[in-house]
Amino acid sequence: MTERTAKGVFWGGTLSSLALFLALTVDTHGQFAALTRADKLDDTVVAGKRVFERYNCNDCHTILGFGGYYAPDLTRAYTRLGADAIRRRLAQPEVAFRDSYRKMPNQHLSPAEIESLVAYLEWVAGIDNHDWPPQDSEARWKRSTERLLAAAALSPAAALVQQEGCLSCHALGDRGERQGPRLERVGARRSAAWIGEYLGDPQRLAPGSEMPGYQHLSAAQRQMIGEFIVALAARGGER
Ligand code: HEC
Ligand code: HEC
Repeated sequence: MTERTAKGVFWGGTLSSLALFLALTVDTHGQFAALTRADKLDDTVVAGKRVFERYNCNDCHTILGFGGYYAPDLTRAYTRLGADAIRRRLAQPEVAFRDSYRKMPNQHLSPAEIESLVAYLEWVAGIDNHDWPPQDSEARWKRSTERLLAAAALSPAAALVQQEGCLSCHALGDRGERQGPRLERVGARRSAAWIGEYLGDPQRLAPGSEMPGYQHLSAAQRQMIGEFIVALAARGGER
């Protein structure tokens, strides 16, 4: 290779990579408003971000990968837990995390501060980060739905979950609402026995929770629902 060809390869390669890099950067910047849902950025969301900074939530938690690694990432906390469960955890962490070895301090947030944090976490959860990092990936839950529902159609516990209206507050696959935690997530962190007991009297295991009690179900039915929910987590994970 002559010196001239080597220079040609060098400049050609460098300049075309640079052009591609610039084009992709400009393209990404053009999409920021849509990806971050800038139109949903209202005063409550902004207030929530300020509260998040004022109380140094980032010392322990990450959002979009930034922050401390002591506590769970909060990017998808809203889709994972729902609004009510977040409220209760912020108002009374010492009660909500009573059974946990890790501790979250009670920072005595006012009701208004809690509401703005919920709005902020809801906004963050809506950011389209192209499923990267693939944590609590909505796309993944959607992919597993069909298989889950096919398996569920055969199960009496699944019939109970539908009959009792659990999905009017909980998400499952791409169904359901966002008031309480996603059922697959619940299954990943609780045992069937715990869920069975919880359903009989939520207030006893989670004081202040908005979750209704299912005393009218028998202990065996509640245990069966517990086993179903734990199995959901196992299936969602296997993909
Ligand atoms: C000193 C560390 C620390 C600080 C500061 C802190 N947290 Fe936490 N937080 C934790 C720990 C630890 C957990 C997990 C407890 C468990 O599940 O074992 C947690 C859990 C949570 C959860 C539930 C997450 C989930 O997926 O279950 C939310 C929501 C939350 N924190 C929000 C906040 C907000 C908002 C702030 C600021 C006002 C904050 N935290 C400040 C340590 C902290
Ligand atoms: C009216 C709304 C509502 C209905 C209906 C409902 N839930 Fe809940 N559920 C919640 C909320 C809100 C929470 C979060 C409680 C908290 O942590 O503050 C919750 C929490 C739970 C938890 C505990 C999660 C955890 O790990 O702490 C389980 C298990 C659960 N629900 C299962 C069910 C099942 C099964 C049904 C149907 C038989 C059902 N729920 C019906 C609102 C509801």
